Amino acid sequence: MTTYTTAWKSPSNIALVKYWGKRPDGIQIPSNASISFTLNNCATNTTLTFTEQDNLEIEVSLEGKDEPEFIPKIEQFLKRVSHIFPFVIKGRYSIDTSNSFPHSSGIASSASGMSALALCICDIAKEKGLLSEEVFLQTASELARLGSGSASRSVYGPMGVWGEHSDFEGSSDNYAVEYSEIHKVFTDYCDTILLVHKGQKTVSSTVGHDLINGHPFAEARFVQAKENMTELRKILQSGNLDAFIALVESEALTLHSLMMSSNPYFILMKSETLKVIEAIWAKRKKDGVKWCFTLDAGANVHFLYPQADKEAAIQFIERELKQYCENGAFIHDEVGMGAERI
Ligand code: DP6
Repeated sequence: MTTYTTAWKSPSNIALVKYWGKRPDGIQIPSNASISFTLNNCATNTTLTFTEQDNLEIEVSLEGKDEPEFIPKIEQFLKRVSHIFPFVIKGRYSIDTSNSFPHSSGIASSASGMSALALCICDIAKEKGLLSEEVFLQTASELARLGSGSASRSVYGPMGVWGEHSDFEGSSDNYAVEYSEIHKVFTDYCDTILLVHKGQKTVSSTVGHDLINGHPFAEARFVQAKENMTELRKILQSGNLDAFIALVESEALTLHSLMMSSNPYFILMKSETLKVIEAIWAKRKKDGVKWCFTLDAGANVHFLYPQADKEAAIQFIERELKQYCENGAFIHDEVGMGAERI
């Protein structure tokens, strides 16, 4: 009955070309490749104590408080990864997790949470002699993907690419790869998350992904995403911020228009989401700033700007954007270097 204890801190990430849709013929296989900035401040810390035993037993706490409602998702995850590491379903798990961002901020914790857990499991596999250092992160990314697709990209910084794409060497549908061939302006790019709506989303990402199968615009979307990956790669290398803005905002609005044209249709934006977008557009028009937004599957707005503009952007947030945030809340973040053992 050996006991193992390990702990990892893993960040959240924000996709620029979005993953939206899974292939029906696989488990957690994306319909198109995606790419994200890894974040630095929004992260999950997970401590795992694993004791070998014949059956599976899970106990999980968030910020020290028991969270039995997390157990079914973790159990599903462990069963999904058991073909890679059969030991995972024979043990007692004591998982203690905490997020750096406030609970119920509307920020999805699945990317940081699932990647942190995947990394902990890989540590145990390594200790058992089942995993070498060379493929450690790749395997952790593969495990994370089986928990939540976007989690696969969180283990690396400054960017992660998930999904096979001919322009990204080594890219795969099974795991994400690191992407770092980027212009210096992007290495410390800022992302202030404007917390427009802190409540639970009405439709989960998993349900949203499912609605892409049979969606009337699906095929065109997959072609567009593929082209946008090619285009964004060039933009990330050249540092062309006008092109960056045009592509990133189009991706965000396309994601939400896919939701609005699903059957059944749904809207995750709130009226404040649009107000923030309009304020950013008006500012850009008036002052020529290179600031833009992206959205994930929710109402919050990720406000993106270069590090050099941080002071001016913060003033703009305080004066013009904060009013649209629930209780005036926002979180400053920036591009980070991926997960770390703690
Ligand atoms: C809109 O990774 O949360 O954030 O694989 O079902 O867990 P599951 O979905 P999830 O979907 C994220 C979708 C997105 C875009 C993205 O991160 O690429």
